Amino acid sequence: MDTSGAARSPWAFGTAVVVTACVTLLVTRHTATGPLAGPLEAGDGCGQDFGSALNMPLLATHLQANQEGQQHVVVTGGAGFIGSHAAMRLLNDGHYVTVLDNLSRGNYNAIRKLKSIGANRFAFYDIDLNDEARLDRVFNDMISKRSIDYLIHFAAVAFVAESYSNPILYYKNVTANTAYLVETMTKYGVNNMIYSSSCATYGSPTKIPITEETPQEPVSPYGMSKFMAERVLIDHAKSHKQFGVIMLRYFNVIGADPQGRFGESPDLSLPASHHRISTACFLSATGKYDHLTITGTDHPTPDGTCVRDYVHVVDLVDAHVKSSAIIKAGEAQYFNVGVGKGYSVREFVKACKAATGVNMKVVEGPRRPGDAAQIFANPSKIKAAINWEPQHTDLTAALTNSWSWFKSHPKGRAQGQIKPFRGRGDDP
Ligand SMILES: NC(=O)c1ccc[n+]([C@@H]2O[C@H](COP(=O)([O-])OP(=O)(O)OC[C@H]3O[C@@H](n4cnc5c(N)ncnc54)[C@H](O)[C@@H]3O)[C@@H](O)[C@H]2O)c1
Repeated sequence: MDTSGAARSPWAFGTAVVVTACVTLLVTRHTATGPLAGPLEAGDGCGQDFGSALNMPLLATHLQANQEGQQHVVVTGGAGFIGSHAAMRLLNDGHYVTVLDNLSRGNYNAIRKLKSIGANRFAFYDIDLNDEARLDRVFNDMISKRSIDYLIHFAAVAFVAESYSNPILYYKNVTANTAYLVETMTKYGVNNMIYSSSCATYGSPTKIPITEETPQEPVSPYGMSKFMAERVLIDHAKSHKQFGVIMLRYFNVIGADPQGRFGESPDLSLPASHHRISTACFLSATGKYDHLTITGTDHPTPDGTCVRDYVHVVDLVDAHVKSSAIIKAGEAQYFNVGVGKGYSVREFVKACKAATGVNMKVVEGPRRPGDAAQIFANPSKIKAAINWEPQHTDLTAALTNSWSWFKSHPKGRAQGQIKPFRGRGDDP
């Protein structure tokens, strides 16, 4: 959970894991010929059939004419948790989807599965958004094949705890990459964007629920990097009247595709303190950690533990799809996306125990400085704007979806990292 998770999370593990946080540089393998084939074959190396060099016919199959209502949506970060669910939804709605992701935190299996769902309507570029020159070439390539209706920018590193230990990574990856991306979009006439922002931009407000008028006073470097990315987009929309952006400030995202096709695949090699609350719960349920520690039981909340707002990933994706219809040229619009109800950590633990069927040991510890007691949204602005109503608001049911995915993908993100990509000397 980016907002209240990690360093600001009320959670901590009883068992410490010290592993170097990794942003693995995974790079493109060039294949020189052949159209993008059908579904990938199992067991082979990353990117084999998705070579993304400019002169490859990666998107050749996109040259078919659009049918009425069909859109081409570019999804950055589409190999990640939320992005993969969004790409699936768009493909299932009949649209064309192109994912841009460097797989540094994503799951290659998600790409394989998207390909199997989308076939000729799906394409993937392995690209690090900080590579401006390559970004330019990728846009040139995409645009030459099919015009782009809008872009959803999910790609980012997103761990509050990590942002304290490596703030520069966050300012570069979140803020600077957003600037590179929007500059390139504008150069290629792609003017519609939906941006993954966060309630971490509000910091620790005392007045709850959080509305869009709540002052943005980010506390963590992560929150600040998102806030600054928002500024980049707001200023860009002011100076480029053809550019329009919707900034969605998510609260804590949980759940998984109820049909089990996608889910969250965390990097289990990251330090334990980085994990999101559901991952923390599941690792305890599997016995990987001997107990969970609730940090803080004396907060000014009904049961003394922190309260957070959990939005199901399927509902969150729905908000993106519906928002695409209200992007307005020259405007930067922003909306909270939460359910508007807070659950305490104790309630979360109870739901987690019910979802997993495991009565894991829970230890109560002291609160940590900086943890906001309560964070939950007032989502009335987005409800009114796009007629959005979250459907998956039962916490136990949402965690049951996540647990089902977690159990069947116990290696987390490593599940999809069959082989690292090779060097990028053969880039376009
Ligand atoms: N998960 C939450 O609770 C939450 C809450 C608020 C906002 N958000 C935001 O939503 C977005 C998606 O989050 P998520 O939970 O799906 O994260 P995730 O880590 O599962 O997915 C992020 C994806 O971005 C890719 N990526 C990272 N840096 C990249 C780069 N430089 N170039 C190309 N690809 C890159 C990763 O490989 C990964 O596939 C992020 O912007 C995050 O800040 C998430």
